[in-house]
Amino acid sequence: MKLAHESILILDFGSQYVQLIARRVREQRVYSEIVPHTISAAEVRKRAPMGLIFSGGPASVYAKNAPTCDPELLKLGIPVLGICYGMQLAASLLGSKVQPSPAREYGRTTLHVLNHQNLFSDLPEDLVVWNSHGDQVEQLSEDFLPLARTGTCPFAAVKHRGSDFYGVQFHPEVSHTPRGKEILANFVITICRCKGDWRMATFIDENVTEIRRKVGQSHVICGLSGGVDSSVVAMLLHRAIGKHLHCIFVDNGLLRLNEVESVEQTFGDHFKVDLITAHSADLFLGRLAGVTDPEQKRKIIGHTFIEVFRENAKSIPQAKFLAQGTLYPDVIESKSPTGAPSATIKTHHNVGGLPAELGFDLVEPLRELFKDEVRKIGEELGLPEEMVWRQPFPGPGLAVRIVGEITRERLEVLRQADAVVTEEIKRANLYRTTGQSFAVLLPIKSVGVMGDERSAESVIAVRSVDTSDFMTADWSRLPYDVLARISNRIINEVKGVNRVVYDISSKPPSTIEWE
Ligand code: XMP
Repeated sequence: MKLAHESILILDFGSQYVQLIARRVREQRVYSEIVPHTISAAEVRKRAPMGLIFSGGPASVYAKNAPTCDPELLKLGIPVLGICYGMQLAASLLGSKVQPSPAREYGRTTLHVLNHQNLFSDLPEDLVVWNSHGDQVEQLSEDFLPLARTGTCPFAAVKHRGSDFYGVQFHPEVSHTPRGKEILANFVITICRCKGDWRMATFIDENVTEIRRKVGQSHVICGLSGGVDSSVVAMLLHRAIGKHLHCIFVDNGLLRLNEVESVEQTFGDHFKVDLITAHSADLFLGRLAGVTDPEQKRKIIGHTFIEVFRENAKSIPQAKFLAQGTLYPDVIESKSPTGAPSATIKTHHNVGGLPAELGFDLVEPLRELFKDEVRKIGEELGLPEEMVWRQPFPGPGLAVRIVGEITRERLEVLRQADAVVTEEIKRANLYRTTGQSFAVLLPIKSVGVMGDERSAESVIAVRSVDTSDFMTADWSRLPYDVLARISNRIINEVKGVNRVVYDISSKPPSTIEWE
């Protein structure tokens, strides 16, 4: 869907930071989109962006097969900002030489600003910036005006005199460039003259209209999981088409404490969404009996989910569409020119995925959004805070947090222990800063003393990680007193557990889940 907004297009030359650039632009309330570097000038003209940003990239401009772009882009009269590789490429297209730098620049450097008029307006003389390049622009014709330099790089930032091209060797988009946000704001707001009026409320209104147009008088099915994405999709559709939305929520028996009730209360009782809960715990747990191999568990759960969903969808024969919570990072990943994986939860994991042969047309209203934007929309739509800020929960649920065999008794133990972890993490105000925090039930018995008796009972591992993308993660440095409360409460309150351990492994090489 094309939105009628002012926008900035970001040409992707393979930088690991390309999504970050897009997010930084959106923080200025300007809609941004990542496009392949091969986009033609004609296509850009059609989209009429307010500005272009050329991302960085791992290649060298002078290398064979280095990615390039349509040189006409620099003649459209649209302001262009080149970052690192993007600057070198544009400078070379505009007639300058790029060479390996005598001094490679990695990490923090001090930037000395020479010209405060445009990119660096309202910024101090000296700034800390983050570099990561081995090439730099060696010679610049008189056509370029140096805007800033570093100790080793005389052209750390430049402007082309004959056009609205700006280039920076450093990365303004990363947090290690503390004033980078202002540099980007100077480009987006001052140079590109964006108004910065992209608001979530506008997004909701436009999407509601678009959904109504697309769906018409048909009906839509939405698979609800209780997670943020599907909840927001359901609320958007509900606002757009009301009773023409039908949600299917599969209770696979592997959900957390009170999760089924909470979804039913929020969507069914409170928002009056047409909600079908498929109570399928017996079916799932029956098929999982005796299974201990994690991949086998995932397969059984995945297949059973599709079967149950399909069965329930039959009760809504009038439905033509299926709503899905696809987010922008998934879309970019499938379009990435470098084929490099983008920072998302592994898709092969996605047990909640439904096969195309279900035969529905797709409605994907979140395709243009990042996760933090989805949360804002959820808040705007009135979803409870608890749902909007929920940490990710894997499709196979508690099955991959019970190491070994899944039984109802073991599920109950884990559910109780997990609820204690969540409660204490929330009480300590750490729920939003930790990426995921949960309990895992181990397949061993540990010896303890209860009263005068020695006993052998279960061990719970507590896992809490700090992560921004779930591809890498570090264990959270939880305060000792929080750990102490978690441990005391689990041992005192959860029958059958006499030992709690804390997982201090980072990813890689460990994974976040134990299975
Ligand atoms: P790992 O354990 O691979 O997890 O470090 C990375 C992220 O993926 C989630 N995860 C899953 N999500 N189905 C899912 O939908 C799965 O089978 C699955 N396995 C792991 C995990 O919770 C973390 O957020």
